[in-house]
Amino acid sequence: MTIDPAIHSQRRARLLEKMRRGIAVVPTAPEVARNGDTHYGYRHDSSFYYLTGFAEPEAVLALVAGDKQQAILFCREKNPEREIWDGFRTGPDAAKEQYGFDAAYPIAQLDEKLAELMGNQPALFYPVGHDTAWDQRLLRLRGEVQAKARSGIRAPNEIHDVRTLLNEMRLFKGEHELAIMRRAAEISTQAHRRAMRFARPGQSEYQIEAELLHEFCRHGARHPAYPSIVAGGANACVLHYVGNDAALRDGDLLLIDAGCELDGYASDITRTFPVNGRFSAAQKDVYEIVLAAQAAAIAAARPGNTWDAPHDAALRVLAQGFIDLELCRGSVEAVLESESYKRFYMHRTGHWLGMDVHDVGDYKVDDHWRKLQPGMVFTVEPGCYIRPADDVPQALWNIGIRIEDDVAITAQGNEVLTVAAPKAVAEIEELMRD
Ligand code: GLY
Ligand code: MN
Ligand code: MN
Repeated sequence: MTIDPAIHSQRRARLLEKMRRGIAVVPTAPEVARNGDTHYGYRHDSSFYYLTGFAEPEAVLALVAGDKQQAILFCREKNPEREIWDGFRTGPDAAKEQYGFDAAYPIAQLDEKLAELMGNQPALFYPVGHDTAWDQRLLRLRGEVQAKARSGIRAPNEIHDVRTLLNEMRLFKGEHELAIMRRAAEISTQAHRRAMRFARPGQSEYQIEAELLHEFCRHGARHPAYPSIVAGGANACVLHYVGNDAALRDGDLLLIDAGCELDGYASDITRTFPVNGRFSAAQKDVYEIVLAAQAAAIAAARPGNTWDAPHDAALRVLAQGFIDLELCRGSVEAVLESESYKRFYMHRTGHWLGMDVHDVGDYKVDDHWRKLQPGMVFTVEPGCYIRPADDVPQALWNIGIRIEDDVAITAQGNEVLTVAAPKAVAEIEELMRD
């Protein structure tokens, strides 16, 4: 991981400024057991990492705002015995120096120190309701401080969700973040290209998944940002399909929704292509509609437009396309009004993208869709999923298509981070022919 302590300490300073007064407590994620003595691969909490750059488990950040600002890390102590078995631990002393905290203490001292730090603070900020164990722990500590009222120590009487402040900060990506996201996107585009080259009838979905993971990992992106969806034929009509264990069939499409995580940032790409390298006429008809919907949505992704502008632009193209394919009846206005398109397109056209694949940040402000601004990054991912039914042309049965790119809003318009993953019909067929 790339550690630039200045970036994280600037973020802490901004959060402290927004808090104005009080204490914030931001824990990292817990380790989670998979079975027996085995744990799931550890992943830090995104907001904790955003503020610290510290990736070890069992760590908590405390920030004290006001005149005597402090950033304090609690982390695991050095432990030569455990380090022989489980690997390196930074320890409080080195963490303080390397990461630029004002102080760092062993995690075992957390309760005692937090109770001290909470004393006489007017407000407590933390991720309220995110984890009931933390709710209980912090309320218990606050109760301990309250019990000292007779010695003149006050407990925080305001409790705020720190995410209200933090999520808004995370929504706007700085240059450093965009650079990582560009690289994550580039690795994922290479993985999709590799999948297109490897796919052929008779292979299984998991063999293609293996190619994706291979490409991620060999470029230093050790984990996917979310479970890869490798869905052949009818499986593509299951939006969150992760079985990935069916054989690929000649004449079917293959939908792959996969992106790597790099240095804590996600990429999220979907491509859909024919298993045998050639789109059938019916597949191409549907594909071109989804592709045109995506182009319209990307064109609407520019500063000043609202969050829903890309979705609305995609919907109009899809509605017309569904009418042309005889999936929907009536005018575009009627299809949009009645929402009859939802039978074939039931999700929205995108989501914020960042440290979390479905990243944080409000989509509405004061009940209105928010305006797009430079630094916002999101996906544009229209699709079409056609299940067999008597009133649906049979040639279209089981066609599932989604095309997803990652888009950053710039001062002039947008930058498509994932542009190198082929999506034009001719481009895909050429790559697969080679
Ligand atoms: N891969 C998750 C999504 O597209 O939202
Ligand atoms: Mn997505
Ligand atoms: Mn996706």
